[in-house]
Amino acid sequence: MTEEYIRVCRLDDLQEARTRVFEIGGKQLLVAREKDQVYIIDNTCTHDNGIIGDGKVIQGEVQCPRHGARFDIKTGRAMQLPAIMDIKTYKTMVVNGDVMVSLKRY
Ligand code: FES
Repeated sequence: MTEEYIRVCRLDDLQEARTRVFEIGGKQLLVAREKDQVYIIDNTCTHDNGIIGDGKVIQGEVQCPRHGARFDIKTGRAMQLPAIMDIKTYKTMVVNGDVMVSLKRY
């Protein structure tokens, strides 16, 4: 079965080291760009469902503003307490300048 990808935005809509939030398929997705690579994770913190929101990517990590948990933007790994559970990541690709995401669960 082929995987279905949904358009999120243009690659040019994203700045390096900054995140943006998009609602796609009823999900709040946090999108970050590193050169021509795009990473997408859930926008909901695994600690206490805080909204991570727009912000900076610092040394490859995003920080939840609520209690300070940090997550690796590439792997979703919880890097700093109080979060202990990793955050969901999504497969992405860039096609002709369009950022695409697969919402499939693995
Ligand atoms: S809800 Fe994100 S650190 Fe607590």
